Amino acid sequence: MAIEDNWIRPHLKQLSAYQSARDLFLSDGAVLLDANENPYGEANRYPDPKQVQLTEKLAEIWKTDANQVLATHGSDEGLDLLFRLLVVPGVDRVLICPPTYGMYGVIAAIHGVSVVEVQLRPNFTIDFEGLQNTVEQVTPKMILITNPNNPTGNLVGDIERVLQLSPNLVVVDEAYMDFCPEFSAVPLLKKYPNLIITKTLSKAYGMAGLRIGAILASPFLISWLRKIKLPYNISTLTQKHALCQLEKIENLAALRDEIIDEREKLQIALKRLSIVINVYPSQANFLLVSVTEPRTVFQALLAAGIIVRDRSKEVANALRITVGTPEENRLLIKELKHIANALTNNKSL
Ligand SMILES: Cc1ncc(COP(=O)(O)O)c(C=O)c1O
Repeated sequence: MAIEDNWIRPHLKQLSAYQSARDLFLSDGAVLLDANENPYGEANRYPDPKQVQLTEKLAEIWKTDANQVLATHGSDEGLDLLFRLLVVPGVDRVLICPPTYGMYGVIAAIHGVSVVEVQLRPNFTIDFEGLQNTVEQVTPKMILITNPNNPTGNLVGDIERVLQLSPNLVVVDEAYMDFCPEFSAVPLLKKYPNLIITKTLSKAYGMAGLRIGAILASPFLISWLRKIKLPYNISTLTQKHALCQLEKIENLAALRDEIIDEREKLQIALKRLSIVINVYPSQANFLLVSVTEPRTVFQALLAAGIIVRDRSKEVANALRITVGTPEENRLLIKELKHIANALTNNKSL
């Protein structure tokens, strides 16, 4: 038995996958009387369950082969599918490196899987010694790394080193990697069959409302994921709309570059404020900022109609601020100046 076979949850090996009608026949122009669809209406046909065109496009933008891509309903669905395929509830463990994306813990809890934590170092990079020791002690089935990390925004370190110390699976969540694509782990896919990468169109591509993500992995894992996903996980309209947006890739790239520019300006403006203790380096579309009184600042911004994320439970004094339009960022800084003045002069907010 190949080593990959051991990764699949044992009970799934007997699964005979559901064959949906549109899996068998998708042909335009044929008389389709096989799926109990309504012959009338605009979205009356079930979508392409294989998402052929979309998958090819995603493979092109993320520079891999189509047989290494599964399109998902956002990357959150991708993460959930990985647990369903690979992690045995009550038996296997997964490893995460906090502070990180909160959904890993939630998805693990939903699946009844226990989570082992190895904290990132104070500069939010991977603690390789701590990781190695923990991997040796508990042999996690899956290590989940976010790169760039959320909520900290930075690149966490050498992914190949993580792959070399893990006998099992390494999932790299690259939700924010399209803001710094040169650091992607995609080129490592060919070398490491235990590498899985999750991607999304929600961030740099600006399509969070569409719900499209992807899993990039070995053809073996992708074919297994295809067997267990729900047949029609991405609607026809969503597939069409995403393809249409991705045709205008230069516009999307220009907007992404504008966000990166704005991030740099915002960072400078934030650092000048008296209430700001630190602005952490970011490669993503948000900044983690520590301030003197995070709860007060959060509430005062909220009262002014500006909503940021209070992350002070994960990182001392920290608020996570998404980079907005130039106008939104200007309003944010204006309000923060007002808050800073009020706090310095002990005035009520
Ligand atoms: C690290 C990380 N992964 C995944 C997601 C979920 O993205 P999607 O919209 O593709 O489900 C987010 C969303 O904020 C995220 O921060």
